[in-house]
Amino acid sequence: CGIVGYVGPQDALDVVLEGLRRLEYRGYDSAGVAVRVGDGAAGELASAKKAGKLANLEKVLADSPLPASTIGIGHTRWATHGGPTDRNAHPHLSADGRVAVIHNGIIENFAALRARCEKRGIEFASDTDTEVAAHLLAEAYDELPAGPDRFAEAMRVVCRRLEGAFTLVATHADEPDTLVAARRNSPLVVGIGETVDRNGTTTPEYFLGSDVAAFIAHTREARELGQDQVVEIDRVRGLTVTDFAGAPAEPKAYTVDWDAAAAEKGGYDWFMLKEIAEQPRAVADTLLGRLSETGQLVLDEVRLSDQDLRDIDKVFVVACGTAYHAGLIAKYAIEHWTRIPVEVEVASEFRYRDPVLDRSTLVIVISQSGETMDTLMALRHAKEQKARVLAICNANGSTIPRESDAVLYTHAGPEVAVASTKGFLTQVVACYLVGLFLAQVRGIKYEDEVAAIVEDLRGLPEQVARVLEQMEPVRALGRSLADAGTILFLGRHVGFPVALEGALKLKELAYIHAEGFAAGELKHGPIALIEEGTPVVVVVPSPRSRESVHGKVVSNIQEVRARGARTIVIAEEGDEDVVPYADHIIRVPRTPTLLAPVVTTVPLQVLACEIADTRGYDVDQPRNLAKSVTVE
Ligand code: G6P
Repeated sequence: CGIVGYVGPQDALDVVLEGLRRLEYRGYDSAGVAVRVGDGAAGELASAKKAGKLANLEKVLADSPLPASTIGIGHTRWATHGGPTDRNAHPHLSADGRVAVIHNGIIENFAALRARCEKRGIEFASDTDTEVAAHLLAEAYDELPAGPDRFAEAMRVVCRRLEGAFTLVATHADEPDTLVAARRNSPLVVGIGETVDRNGTTTPEYFLGSDVAAFIAHTREARELGQDQVVEIDRVRGLTVTDFAGAPAEPKAYTVDWDAAAAEKGGYDWFMLKEIAEQPRAVADTLLGRLSETGQLVLDEVRLSDQDLRDIDKVFVVACGTAYHAGLIAKYAIEHWTRIPVEVEVASEFRYRDPVLDRSTLVIVISQSGETMDTLMALRHAKEQKARVLAICNANGSTIPRESDAVLYTHAGPEVAVASTKGFLTQVVACYLVGLFLAQVRGIKYEDEVAAIVEDLRGLPEQVARVLEQMEPVRALGRSLADAGTILFLGRHVGFPVALEGALKLKELAYIHAEGFAAGELKHGPIALIEEGTPVVVVVPSPRSRESVHGKVVSNIQEVRARGARTIVIAEEGDEDVVPYADHIIRVPRTPTLLAPVVTTVPLQVLACEIADTRGYDVDQPRNLAKSVTVE
């Protein structure tokens, strides 16, 4: 879910809605806002909420506007407890209407807490786990003596009773200057800015957000909060952070290096199209400063000692969704360059199957958002087992890099479309960097091949740009595939994860049944799916790849074609072997086998985007999904 809070001189509703627009990728099942209105202590809350996308809430607010205010909260929801209805939308109010709460996460002991509230006669207005927090907070506040710390203390009292994962932000009718918030296992960042009025007077303003996108239009000065902390933002007293027991804590300051424009569509129909187009830049930024003139890898940020890296005897790559596919590609590269065994697993499975880990295991967690709960739990499990954890992450200040032993940031810039594109490509590149770095530190003899790869990495942004120049025919092909019932994707070697990623993009965006297979596995079952006209996309490796993988894939194309498939072939420029068997050919520039996913994925992204658009779907916000899933 997306969370925004604001205290400052501007109109709170404007600031909160603007923040929600930028956070909508975190969930769009419903949206809601609450503002505190009135002078001095005599105040009340006004709120509005609506199922569906933010636009629905904006319509409600246009018809019945809320009064002006300078303190407010807002929420955009990805439903967990309780369906995506108006009544389950946040904020949730206490029974007396004096407290409004928004929440991200799952309060695991909510049933017991709810039963206790109901025994005391409180009637619940929703099916959510969140609502108990509103009632408990109102009650705790009423029981505390008046004083400046009263609201924050009430929040601490409540947090000590909650189990599970939560970010909570609350406003109180009796608190004209203060918002309080808390976090456990769920993201929350603070923004600190100021406005200057006509007379040149500056007034501080404070923001809360589930990520920096919430306030990036206003300030780049941010504070990172730790686990189990309560934060108060107050017009007069400023920012105060404590743990749940009340002991003061010092939040870490950082400056956001994304600018507001980077998180805007900038003339494209969809964020996804913009982000696809940004990939050459994103890949270049991820490589920047990490390849020396002499072909050495410079990864100073990886705070693991050379000895630690030399001691590694096994690597796990753990991630979810698209990031998991980046991990699958990493396996081929890291094993090949370092000869260290690599296992790849989805985080939700890794965490609960008792994997064998120890001090000499390196666990690489990959997450664009740095907040995916499944991945975070896997990371914590790995650390408990004493493994070293290296995060590959895009969002600065997020939880996963903070809790890891080391981090390699992908410098993709903000990714807004729910389906990952530049996030994925830069994750793949970061994996290459890690693999080559491990090889370097461990003194693996730099065969010519490895040295050449470093040069090839430098060329990747240009290669991706060349692919993007030739996307018009891919779009036309996409339009012709819009009515397909099933589309299959095949690949071998690193082309296999690319096939999986192509299928995932299509499922996510176009809601078409799609599956990716290892091309060699096809004959062992999936080939039965092929009927006359079934579109089959085949990712063909370079003719120069080892072990004649190329020839085998060409045979696989013939096999499916013989059974009636409509073959769509992604092949290197100059590869003539595929021509006789391809109904459509998408050409990509010559690239070394292990690096090829960086170019072959791009047409699949464009294809999925175009098919979804032709079918009339919201490409940036596909149904049922959210960009960062902060529940298990
Ligand atoms: C969600 C998104 C996916 C994404 C996955 C992992 O499920 O819908 O598109 O790949 O999370 O996200 P992360 O931020 O951890 O890379």
